[in-house]
Amino acid sequence: MSPFHVTRTLPEDAMAAALRADVRHGLTRTPKTLPPKWFYDARGSELFEKITELPEYYPTRAEREILLARADEIAAAVPARTLIELGSGSSEKTRHLIDALTGLHTYVPVDVSESALRQAGDALAAERPGLQVHALIADFTSGLAVPGTPDPRLLAFLGGTIGNLLPAERARFLTGTRALLAPGDALLLGTDLVKDPEVLVRAYDDAAGVTAAFNKNVLAVIDRELGADFDPDAFDHVALWDAEQEWIEMRLRARTAQTVKVRALDLAVEFAAGEELRTEVSAKFRKETVDAELTAAGFEPVRWWTDSARRFALSLSVAR
Ligand code: AVJ
Repeated sequence: MSPFHVTRTLPEDAMAAALRADVRHGLTRTPKTLPPKWFYDARGSELFEKITELPEYYPTRAEREILLARADEIAAAVPARTLIELGSGSSEKTRHLIDALTGLHTYVPVDVSESALRQAGDALAAERPGLQVHALIADFTSGLAVPGTPDPRLLAFLGGTIGNLLPAERARFLTGTRALLAPGDALLLGTDLVKDPEVLVRAYDDAAGVTAAFNKNVLAVIDRELGADFDPDAFDHVALWDAEQEWIEMRLRARTAQTVKVRALDLAVEFAAGEELRTEVSAKFRKETVDAELTAAGFEPVRWWTDSARRFALSLSVAR
């Protein structure tokens, strides 16, 4: 068994404080919003894994296809000794990359979900004797610190999760990510692509209702963590395509007028009948905008690969 360490860079009380701040801020403004990172408790992470297996949810399969086809090319371009993965979740797709990176010394999975990190970390440490696995429980959207690790480093941000950031957050995130790297280190970025809105909406509103359950799970998280009395059944799952912003929005629509109490915040939140709470933005991309944003953040885009159906892209860029 190889070494497996977990570091909590976000103390549990800081995480709880961040949740309180996000809920207070998001539920007292108009329109109401919540950041998507709070979906991912143990149940939410499980539901997300189920989403990745749905017939309608193509991004995971499309990205896996690219990784399988290109892992050797990626490894040849960047013979990484350290692989850092943001939002690693189950690390399932990353296996292909880890297998191709023959000189890999350290794998640093970073996620807010401790349960996902432990499961993935245990499995990897058992499968890859000699590989250092140093998991970080952290929120990579704000001031991530990565331990000293051998270079060159490859930082992977897969799954299209960058689409969950709003444009200004995305620019800050990319600049911050560049600052974690040295010249010659690289970024492997997964981005879902703009396509037929019907295909997009179906991917976020599946027939089996798994995405609806995932969306409503954020209410269960707030109920448990902040003593709120949200009734998940009092809300409908909504997924819509914003053609101007080129993003999918997930919302929760109040079925009736209701007041929700959040005990830990001493807060009563009024919902009008039909009022919507935005829980996620999932932006879809075009090559030109990805290249421009990478360049603006100090990266040089060097490779762009898509799956055979051109639904999803993986790009490799080098820190300048
Ligand atoms: C894991 C953030 C990439 O935005 O597609 C799946 C999350 N939300 N279904 C995405 C998600 C609804 C997913 N990411």
